[in-house]
Amino acid sequence: MQGNADNFTVVIFGANSDLAARKLFPSLYELSKWGHLPGEYRIIGVGRSLLTHEEFRHQVHQKLTTLSPETVLDEQHVNKFSSRLFYVSLDLADSEGYHDLYKELMDVSPESGLGEHILYYLSTPPDLAPIIVKNLDLAGLGEQHDSQGGWRKIIVEKPYGTNLQTARQLNSAIGAVFNEERIFRIDHYLGKEPVQNIMVFRFSNGIFEPLWTRHYIANVEITIAEDFGIRDRGAFYDAAGLLRDIIQNHALQLLAAVAMEPPVDLSADSVRDEKAKLLRSIRPFKSFDVEKSVVLGQYEGYRSEKNVAQDSTVETFAAVKFYIDNWRWKDVPFYVKAGKNLSQTMTKIVITFKCPPQNYFGPAESCSYIANQVVFCIQPDETIALRFGAKRPGEAVITDPVYMKFDYKTSFTEAGMTPYHRLLLDAVNGDQMNFIRQDSVEYSWAIIDSIRETVNGMTPETYPIHSNGPESAGSIYS
Ligand code: BG6
Repeated sequence: MQGNADNFTVVIFGANSDLAARKLFPSLYELSKWGHLPGEYRIIGVGRSLLTHEEFRHQVHQKLTTLSPETVLDEQHVNKFSSRLFYVSLDLADSEGYHDLYKELMDVSPESGLGEHILYYLSTPPDLAPIIVKNLDLAGLGEQHDSQGGWRKIIVEKPYGTNLQTARQLNSAIGAVFNEERIFRIDHYLGKEPVQNIMVFRFSNGIFEPLWTRHYIANVEITIAEDFGIRDRGAFYDAAGLLRDIIQNHALQLLAAVAMEPPVDLSADSVRDEKAKLLRSIRPFKSFDVEKSVVLGQYEGYRSEKNVAQDSTVETFAAVKFYIDNWRWKDVPFYVKAGKNLSQTMTKIVITFKCPPQNYFGPAESCSYIANQVVFCIQPDETIALRFGAKRPGEAVITDPVYMKFDYKTSFTEAGMTPYHRLLLDAVNGDQMNFIRQDSVEYSWAIIDSIRETVNGMTPETYPIHSNGPESAGSIYS
């Protein structure tokens, strides 16, 4: 008998993790409260601590209150949500414990469908992913064991590997148990409203797309700046560094969204085909060009952070000049900068257009001051601006840069969803458009590996906290 097709169970591995407390439970609670989930649901938290269902419910409630103050709790719904929470304690590395998970998962009436539709969420350290999927498979909980009409899907958090080789190993370990259509590699940047809007801006407005080429665009600049340090993530960060933490995923995904070709249609794979093609076209780095293309920095005091090596040469800042070897972008520089402990927290993409063939209103060099730009501000402001030159009032003809601006806050009254609301919902509904496909993960790692190989041994330049990064960062523009 087939159970209700809309009902499902979410299994959260790492139920006591920070991510689960700050993002996953609040998002699931709100999606449920708003009535966005397609049917009835149940959430099974999996963790090492020994907890009863009741203790787990109490803990989730407490964390919703303390760790997610922006979540508005309404008592009636909290009770409903709590009654859907269950807990299984197991050692993730021990296959035996997974039989308890199996029992808990199947302990529902067949007509409910709750045991047939299962979404696994790995909120666990990355090295555990292969072990978890293998154990799921051994316990009869992998994809090939699902009943007719059911589904089993898996969401995997970043970091997705540490280089091309480990990403491939991870892909093959997960791919042995789940088909690619059931694997949701999450990059929360793809759930941000202004990031999703890049594609809409480009492909729903006829006036920009004809200009979106090397013939009219001088350069593209992507900045992901944060005014705080590594917080309490020393151990993770000192093994990763900024290239792997930010550039491999968030920055390259923004670059792909800005530079990809129009997809054949809006199916997940058509869009992801174009992104993969774009990532594949990024020019690999060679040692002879790295000097002018990559600057790495480390903020002052980084080596005294907790769990960081005293002689660490891990980068907390990177400025990288990318080129895309295809017909649309050949020789257009894409400047990507990202860093911790910079002067402000801000993510933006600036498309700078070429100057008009003749500058009537000043010396030729002054053109860059008023060059047309499209500026996508992703955060904290959510705006898109078009910069152009205008005559300053007065007798003399002096041109100044001015902006036409769209602001989400003033143009729309609807409250947006957070990335985790949106991406969890997409995964439940099986929409993979905003998840990273296997090929894109591998192309991104190939680029990052090529940078890391060429900068191997380079000591990052120290920069003061709350500055704009290392002094030599500007050299990538030369
Ligand atoms: C995470 C990185 O993926 O993204 C963090 O690991 C970074 O280092 C964070 O701070 C930034 O996300 P957001 O949404 O706050 O810009």
